[in-house]
Amino acid sequence: MTILVTGAAGFIGSNFVLDWLNQSKEDVVSLDLLSYAGNLENLSSLDNNPRHHFIKGNIGDRELVSELLKKYQVRAIVNFAAESHVDRSIHESKYFIETNIVGTYNLLESARSYWSDLDQNLKQDFRFLHISSDEVYGSLNLTDPPSSESDPYKPNSPYSASKAASDHLVRAWFQTYKLPVLTVNSANNYGPYQFPEKLIPLCILNALKGKPLAIYGDGQQVRDWLYVKDHCTAIREILKAGQIGETYNVGRWSEKTNLEVVETLCAILDELEPKSNGKSYFEQITFVKDRPGHDRRYAIDASKLEYDLGWKPQETFETGLRKTVLWYLENETWMNHDVSGEYQDWVQKQYS
Ligand code: DAU
Repeated sequence: MTILVTGAAGFIGSNFVLDWLNQSKEDVVSLDLLSYAGNLENLSSLDNNPRHHFIKGNIGDRELVSELLKKYQVRAIVNFAAESHVDRSIHESKYFIETNIVGTYNLLESARSYWSDLDQNLKQDFRFLHISSDEVYGSLNLTDPPSSESDPYKPNSPYSASKAASDHLVRAWFQTYKLPVLTVNSANNYGPYQFPEKLIPLCILNALKGKPLAIYGDGQQVRDWLYVKDHCTAIREILKAGQIGETYNVGRWSEKTNLEVVETLCAILDELEPKSNGKSYFEQITFVKDRPGHDRRYAIDASKLEYDLGWKPQETFETGLRKTVLWYLENETWMNHDVSGEYQDWVQKQYS
């Protein structure tokens, strides 16, 4: 059978598709609108793979999604499709409401209609797995325990509010219609194919171009950092053995301040790509105006996933970051392809 992966040409989605085709026997239908952060190059290694089918389209297009579900006899939907950048959500929240809330609603309805008509056995095996964020739990104080699945939602940005709303829809479709859903709330991901608007790839790009590494505010905001391939493994496990209707937090127990992240990055770059003038990348670190409503700390309690499903992350922050830097150094063409046109307008708007 086949799984339908939405947002498949984006960062986590493309990593997941590549991982899935390596690890599982099921085929993949990739659906992606190819908006600014979706890049078909992420999936180019699958061009001649008969187990992979790419479709350009919107999760909100019910006719298209219904047709794909039937045509490929889809056994599970993994929904990565989302507007995901907090800074963009502050400038223009409309797309976040449209994609993350209305889009998820439409996808749930397409899934429900397809699932309702399935034979009993296929109905039992069907899953709707929704990918969400630790940001829905809101900001923690430094002494608070990490967020667990039973914590209340307290989203603070248009982005996290839109993800929280989508999580509630997913939950309601389970409670009301018994659609077999699973929700995954993940910490900050990093790794190959991440669009260079997020902290780590942006700093790698700017470091290599000799530009400032902009740190918002005092740089003491804390995030938990998860290597994307560990996230993909977690999703596979949850899809296989997760309890229907449940939420699973995925994190690395690896809290770092933003300044620590950028300093570690600079140290790795100094070692792997030393500057010809002998200077250090540390000198490019610059403190800039803070993000409005900037959440101070996110941290994830991933013990449910570890105890119930036996998942363990493989990479530490340092090993994952080193792999990431190496990947970007080896894929500068990918990076440069992504940073023309609309991207330059964004950088101008946000950092000028
Ligand atoms: O926590 C999970 C979330 O992580 C995901 O749900 C979001 O989709 C994802 O974008 C990410 O949100 P963040 O806002 O934490 O990621 P971002 O990479 O934008 O920023 C990470 C931290 O670094 C944050 O505290 C803001 C700061 N930052 C970011 C940028 C882009 C800077 O100091 N300078 C920057 O230029």
